[in-house]
Amino acid sequence: MSISVDKNKKLFTLQTKNTTYQMKVGRFDHLYHIYYGKKIEHQDLSYLLYNGPSHYVPYPHESKGRVGSLTLMSQEYPTVGSGDLGSVALDIKNHDGTRVVDLKYKNYEVIDGKYDLENLPSFFAKEDEAQTLKITLVDDVSGVEVELFYGVYAKYDVITRAARLSNLGDSSLSIQKIQSLVLDLISGQYDLVHFHGRWGSERNFERIPLSHNVTTFGSNYGVSSAKENPGFILLGKDTNEMHGDCYGFNLVYSGNFRATAEQGTLGQSRITLGLGDNQFTWKVEPGAMFESPEAIMSFSNDGLTQLSHNFHDIIRNNLCHSKYQKVARPVLVNNWEATYFDFNGKKLLQIARAAKNIGADLFVLDDGWFGNRFDDNRSLGDWFVNEKKLGCSLKDLVQKINNMGMEFGLWFEPEMVNEDSELYRHHPEWALNFPKRKALLDRNQLVLDLSQARVRQYLFDRIVDILDSANVSYIKWDMNRPITDWYSKNLSQSRQGELQHRYVLGLYKLLGRLTRRYPDVLFEGCSAGGARFDLGMLSYEPQIWTSDNTDPINRLGIQYGTSFFYPLSTMGSHVSASPNLQNGRVTPLSTRAAVAMAGTFGYELDVTELSDKEQQQAKEYTQFYKKIQKLTFSGDYYRLFSPFDNHNDLVAWQIVSKDKTKCLLSVVVTNVVANAPFVYLQLRGLDEDANYRVNDKVYSGAALMNAGLKLGRFKGNYPSEQLYFEKIE
Ligand code: GLA
Repeated sequence: MSISVDKNKKLFTLQTKNTTYQMKVGRFDHLYHIYYGKKIEHQDLSYLLYNGPSHYVPYPHESKGRVGSLTLMSQEYPTVGSGDLGSVALDIKNHDGTRVVDLKYKNYEVIDGKYDLENLPSFFAKEDEAQTLKITLVDDVSGVEVELFYGVYAKYDVITRAARLSNLGDSSLSIQKIQSLVLDLISGQYDLVHFHGRWGSERNFERIPLSHNVTTFGSNYGVSSAKENPGFILLGKDTNEMHGDCYGFNLVYSGNFRATAEQGTLGQSRITLGLGDNQFTWKVEPGAMFESPEAIMSFSNDGLTQLSHNFHDIIRNNLCHSKYQKVARPVLVNNWEATYFDFNGKKLLQIARAAKNIGADLFVLDDGWFGNRFDDNRSLGDWFVNEKKLGCSLKDLVQKINNMGMEFGLWFEPEMVNEDSELYRHHPEWALNFPKRKALLDRNQLVLDLSQARVRQYLFDRIVDILDSANVSYIKWDMNRPITDWYSKNLSQSRQGELQHRYVLGLYKLLGRLTRRYPDVLFEGCSAGGARFDLGMLSYEPQIWTSDNTDPINRLGIQYGTSFFYPLSTMGSHVSASPNLQNGRVTPLSTRAAVAMAGTFGYELDVTELSDKEQQQAKEYTQFYKKIQKLTFSGDYYRLFSPFDNHNDLVAWQIVSKDKTKCLLSVVVTNVVANAPFVYLQLRGLDEDANYRVNDKVYSGAALMNAGLKLGRFKGNYPSEQLYFEKIE
């Protein structure tokens, strides 16, 4: 059993394979957090709780000796007005204008299997994979009830959390802030790792000390954003890839979010994560409820690699219902960087033929196939095939490509509209826009108001019409601007603060309908590259275009940062042209291929322009990738040399099958040095006692992991090496 409850002590203990999480109902019926960390069995840890007096902080008036201040206690779900003066989980404006909610323990329930959320995506579980603990808290004065959900996945060392608020009182109230996760750690000195970035440079790794200042990060972009990813890590000062304590947190959400990390006055640390509270309000009428997005957390005592494995395993198995989680993913050729908007049917077929020659399974037609879309100033919203440009119907084009032995995929950017479009001319009220003001533009486009059911219905109908007209087996779902102009003509003045979240709920509804209707279609997410790379999107789409930056050397950093939470099976990664179109860098095809193979492999260039020799090479890379895809999608990932470490002239990573019989090692040299010292690369995750054949030599696992693999010397521009090897029986 993962969940045990001591009814007398009101002590709740969650056990996973290697971790323990404990909480207790304390004095005055508040729910205290006691411990989260390495597994401790059969122990009431409540002796850890603070029991000293409070000085210059509020304490409950019944308390003798000034104890029990919520500011000093570690709590599960701190609230506004209750005496906690830190970053709270819940802030409510009551009908009478007061800002207070004081949650007291009511009851609990242990449920077999995993709880579900009504309107939001969440991790799922087969019955025996998870257990749920539900603790209900209530404020007797206002009638606010909060159910805290804990989904315990013992085998992954993962706990998910969500909060559901119900208004059991007589008057409406307004939520000002509601977080999915608060974690108070009683002691310890920590660093914080977060992943920040911008277009073309997503998820940069940054490690900073946790301080007494509140470190706040999140997104106001309307999407989870390239600026900050919702995934972040709290780790011990000495923690590294293979050793030490670390906690990972992430959110199953694709819109604005907010995370905080701070040290308390007595050495505690507090983490919060949840919906962005900038402009957020949500009115809850009597009898109504509101559910928070789901947060996920994991702890590893064996360093960051193990933490990543925990996230990778659960994301690969328990988040997305797509059949592509289990069947091979196609190698695709996308025409975007090959043609941009400048193509016709003939050109597409030429590229498709060359794509077939290099072994691709899927040809993807990117932007520019609809309406009057000859550049990025117009036609978004007009999802009607431009048959004139294609030279035939979509059905015929797809048929020709199918006849070549390839599947066909199509780009959409459903959430957007250009002013210069039929849709906008007919329905300007469907776009987000402040009254009497000109809307802010990005890439000349406005955002459609997905909180409106009729807008979603229009998009659903248009997409269905196209998907039913031709044999489309892949959709690239793009979204190319941050959301601003938060005003919906469909919402009353007092509910405008709900729009940011309602947008995301609308998006999920639309995606849910489409993915359920087309279970055989592979959906790939995209947002100007990787600006919406999050667990919410990954619950509908098994893969996301990691970045618009396809330079393999820049990609090393982007994919490295992404790998802390997200498995390789989620990362869209393609071989592009050299010189690279984003930064002009010249790199060998082999290096571009090696980097693209650390993801869902494909090509993003004009394949017809490859020389015969390059086409032959590309064909071999495709074949090789098909051989190793299963390994990369199901194996354990090891970051060996970081691109963010300035001392390294190379970046290296490794994927090892769970049974330790197969391994793919990839090395990319970012700085070629004459007469360089030899590199003895200590591999990881192998079987010490087994023998492996690497090239023509046999090494024991112990030798490869402790003495290291001696790399050869490298020459030229950004050379690389990929070594696939197996255990010798
Ligand atoms: C975005 C995407 C690209 C491409 C273009 C098309 O920038 O990230 O991959 O699809 O849009 O306009």
